[in-house]
Amino acid sequence: MKLKSFAALTAVTPIVNALNILLSNDDGFTSSNIRATYAALKTAGHNVYLFAATQNESGHGGTFNFPDTANLTAPTEFHDFPAGAPSFGHEPDQPDIWYFNATPAACVAFGLDYALPNFYPGVSIDLIVAGPNEGNNPGPAFYTLSGTMGASYYGVYRGIPAIAFSADYNNHSYYRDSTGWYPNRNNESFYSNIYAKKVVQIVNALNQSAGDNPRLLPLGVGLNVNMPYVGAIAEETYNLTCNDPPYIYTRMSGGSGAYSILFNDTTGVFDWHLIGEEKVPGANVPFNGDRTLSGETGMSSNTGCRIAISAFTVDYDAPLEVSEKVHDLLAPGLSG
Ligand SMILES: *[C@@H]1O[C@H](CO)[C@@H](O)[C@H](O)[C@H]1NC(C)=O
Ligand SMILES: *[C@@H]1O[C@H](CO)[C@@H](O)[C@H](O)[C@H]1NC(C)=O
Ligand SMILES: *[C@@H]1O[C@H](CO)[C@@H](O)[C@H](O)[C@H]1NC(C)=O
Ligand SMILES: *[C@@H]1O[C@H](CO)[C@@H](O)[C@H](O)[C@H]1NC(C)=O
Ligand SMILES: *[C@@H]1O[C@H](CO)[C@@H](O)[C@H](O)[C@H]1NC(C)=O
Ligand SMILES: *[C@@H]1O[C@H](CO)[C@@H](O)[C@H](O)[C@H]1NC(C)=O
Ligand SMILES: *[C@@H]1O[C@H](CO)[C@@H](O)[C@H](O)[C@H]1NC(C)=O
Repeated sequence: MKLKSFAALTAVTPIVNALNILLSNDDGFTSSNIRATYAALKTAGHNVYLFAATQNESGHGGTFNFPDTANLTAPTEFHDFPAGAPSFGHEPDQPDIWYFNATPAACVAFGLDYALPNFYPGVSIDLIVAGPNEGNNPGPAFYTLSGTMGASYYGVYRGIPAIAFSADYNNHSYYRDSTGWYPNRNNESFYSNIYAKKVVQIVNALNQSAGDNPRLLPLGVGLNVNMPYVGAIAEETYNLTCNDPPYIYTRMSGGSGAYSILFNDTTGVFDWHLIGEEKVPGANVPFNGDRTLSGETGMSSNTGCRIAISAFTVDYDAPLEVSEKVHDLLAPGLSG
């Protein structure tokens, strides 16, 4: 137990009228997107508690893996903490920025079930923000695959509103990279700062509508938000001016692709291989939601400058008429 060394944290007084936000991601606690978002949400007046993995945990969906050793067996991804350091801890100078050597959903559970009750007694989380992910997460296949999505739907399972943010620009950026995070910290055209600004806009929009209601979204509901290339990288890569993308409402199914695997004859190993809508028809049946909306896949890509927002529920049951049909199919053989 490290309770003693962290005891000072309990003295921190939460800001009144601010949301208590649990921030996580799947790219790791040192990604520039999560650090920029942490800073922007704090500047906007919220209390932010960051719990994220020691390394890239992309593609782990809602997997629940956590360490079985007390100390790290390898350094954190960009060597901020060495092998032998405890399997969880916080930045020495930023006590609310925590790492945990675990998958994203398990990092959220670590925050809710261990770190918050032990080190921040009395703090209850109003909202879980995951991301912004390095790479978009559109449609049902990414929903299950993505660790960013996993962190958010795990939060929804726990009864806490959650928003998954993902960005088309997918560089795996350490917040202190060779070009330097600190020089970019106040750089308005730096993509992480623009993504962070949009996170704050959406969070504040929900906060504004909630008023005195402590619940920002209905129980069992989360949002999936996909963002395009922005700022300097949009200019450099696509000759596109996209500094303040507008929002559109979308749905998760429709136009959605998925991964398959492809054997590489040269290397003798398999590669990830993205396949289109026509090969994954099951992921594109519009059972629920507003069928007049476009599927979110491609809606925020580099050909446009807009942010796609889809609402999802974690009620994975088939709709009534579908489940009745299935029961009818089973009945003759099972009532025998
Ligand atoms: C992160 O992990 C995923 C899944 O293991 C992998 O496909 C991806 O290439 C990794 N990204 C980086 C930048 O290492
Ligand atoms: C973990 O590391 C700490 C020092 O940070 C050390 O005191 C402790 O014995 C280690 N625990 C194990 C199980 O190796
Ligand atoms: C991408 O990320 C790497 C690792 O943090 C960094 O060295 C590189 O400068 C980044 N590239 C861009 C274009 O931001
Ligand atoms: C801001 O960051 C972008 C890279 O995202 C870079 O191209 C630009 O030169 C930076 N501007 C300043 C003033 O540092
Ligand atoms: C959240 O909304 C409440 C009520 O609308 C408002 O008083 C408060 O300032 C907002 N908090 C932040 C941090 O924006
Ligand atoms: C960039 O787009 C502008 C119009 O928006 C066009 O005039 C210019 O030629 C384009 N530059 C390149 C390098 O394609
Ligand atoms: C197979 O792997 C090699 C080496 O990584 C790579 O250069 C090549 O593009 C791959 N081939 C295919 C068809 O993806």
